[in-house]
Amino acid sequence: MSKQKVLLLGATGHTGNSILQGLLRDKASFEVVALIRPSSADKPDVHKLKEEFGVKILLVDIINAPVEELVDALTGIDVFISAIDALGQLAQLRLVAAAKQAGVKRFVPCAWITVAPPGGIMKLRDLVSLSFRSPTDSNEYQYHHQKEQVYQEIWKAHLPYTIIDVGYWHQISFPSLPSGKVDYALSSLRPTAEIHHGGDTLNMLTDLRDIGNYVALIIKDERTLNRFVCTYSDALSENQIFEIMEEMSGEKIVERKAISASDILTMRDTASARIETDPPNWREHMMFISAEYNYSKYVRGDNTPEYAKYLGYLDARELYPEFKPISFRNFVTELLDGKIEKPHY
Ligand SMILES: NC(=O)c1ccc[n+]([C@@H]2O[C@H](COP(=O)([O-])OP(=O)(O)OC[C@H]3O[C@@H](n4cnc5c(N)ncnc54)[C@H](OP(=O)(O)O)[C@@H]3O)[C@@H](O)[C@H]2O)c1
Repeated sequence: MSKQKVLLLGATGHTGNSILQGLLRDKASFEVVALIRPSSADKPDVHKLKEEFGVKILLVDIINAPVEELVDALTGIDVFISAIDALGQLAQLRLVAAAKQAGVKRFVPCAWITVAPPGGIMKLRDLVSLSFRSPTDSNEYQYHHQKEQVYQEIWKAHLPYTIIDVGYWHQISFPSLPSGKVDYALSSLRPTAEIHHGGDTLNMLTDLRDIGNYVALIIKDERTLNRFVCTYSDALSENQIFEIMEEMSGEKIVERKAISASDILTMRDTASARIETDPPNWREHMMFISAEYNYSKYVRGDNTPEYAKYLGYLDARELYPEFKPISFRNFVTELLDGKIEKPHY
């Protein structure tokens, strides 16, 4: 079979870089081009893509370039993959139209989150625009959580697609230890030692580094065309995660903060009320998103293999039984050895 030509948006980001590495590991199957915005052309990460990994770079301004330029960029591309950050979701709408015109054989939009239904459960999944002022640079940002709008645009265009969700990353799913030993890798998105709604709800988890390995399998597979697919290494509850951390570190996590379902809703409603009176308040937007994630994951139990199947997802563990993802335990071994890279947020 000839190589698939893949155009990847977001190759310098967390998810995009994992995808890039996964595709580069299978050079016999893929030829990858990274779509980079002209304003990032001189970033060290972009030079690294070229010099260290030999990746071809295509500079395109997906927001302002005429649609013909986008069609040119997508012509001859078999698979387009987007791993753009949450701020940029809407820019994909122009790419959907251009991909249809260019005859792209599979469009993989920016999903990469936990499994949740559309329709008001998580703004991150839905059709919402927010604006906020950043506390670091005081700029005003538009925040488009419009994954669903992009999916609907794909369906309206009859464009072949695959939507891939990955559960929650290992890298943001572990608690702090009393010794502080794992704090070097602790993201600000992960509270130190909270247990939600009793801590027994299972959640699908994928190691960030495995997203690309799964993508390489999924985009070669005809069974995944026009389907949702979910990936995971483990489905673990918070109580199980705490047990694994205690057992493997030999430490006791005595101080745990119990957060009830109604506490989560109060956090969500408080953040929402504050956003009403102070729309650019970035911190409250983050609190709101986090509360919605927590309610979906820990109270509703949306992010499980069973619920994913109910929604019609294919299960990547069943599709590729020969692929052994990095288990949460293996991740913790590396974490305790000081080998895990901290996400930049
Ligand atoms: N499942 C989970 O646990 C989890 C955790 C975190 C995030 N996510 C999801 O994963 C998705 C990707 O997030 P991430 O954290 O991986 O992203 P990220 O690290 O913030 O990277 C975003 C990428 O998008 C590129 N980009 C942004 N705007 C662009 C534009 N206009 N033109 C070209 N490139 C552009 C950036 O390139 P530059 O180098 O030019 O900036 C960067 O490569 C998000 O939708 C998020 O919801 C899921």
